[in-house]
Amino acid sequence: MYKIKPFPFKKELDGISQKTNEIHHGRLYSGYVNKANEISDELVKLREEIIADDTPGGLPATKAGNPTYSKLRALKLGETFAVNGIYLHELFFDLLGGDGDYKKAPELSAAISKKWGSVENFIKYFSECAMAARGWAILAWDLHEKELKQYNGDTHDHAVWGCIPVLVCDVYEHAYFIDYGSDRKAYLAAFFRNLNWETAENIFKKVRAFSLS
Ligand SMILES: [Fe+2]
Repeated sequence: MYKIKPFPFKKELDGISQKTNEIHHGRLYSGYVNKANEISDELVKLREEIIADDTPGGLPATKAGNPTYSKLRALKLGETFAVNGIYLHELFFDLLGGDGDYKKAPELSAAISKKWGSVENFIKYFSECAMAARGWAILAWDLHEKELKQYNGDTHDHAVWGCIPVLVCDVYEHAYFIDYGSDRKAYLAAFFRNLNWETAENIFKKVRAFSLS
């Protein structure tokens, strides 16, 4: 079972209100955890029906695998959406509450600078990519390319398989509309002011050794 992690923000962040964080954690993130568990329970029941089905040859009598509409299809679509919603939000919350000082992430900063010229260049590029996203902007370690890559995801389940997120920014409107209305750029500046680079550095140091190539 997925578990709701405790609310992580003891005090208001610089430019991201406690109200935004409370709604984000208490309703949206918690909602993904609850739905992921509900989906998981339903999948267990359906899995048992499928395994128990002894229709000889052909499709099981449950017709569970219909790709136009079936309960199994709906649950499987919801499963990746909810579980990615959990993991992305947990990393996003972990990354907030810092002081925005990238010098606290020397190895990640060096890798970013090697690829994008400087951390300032990266922040500029990442922020513009975040303006172009409908859901998430992600800096990931790509296990295939064995390098840092910036990817966008319009929904939680738009993922590049074989990548591990290192730094993620939620750009769904619920992340900033209370504080900034439609001014997403101002929210992105606040995101980087509050970024805990040490958290990203720790993830980077763990994942960069892994390669699929
Ligand atoms: Fe969110």
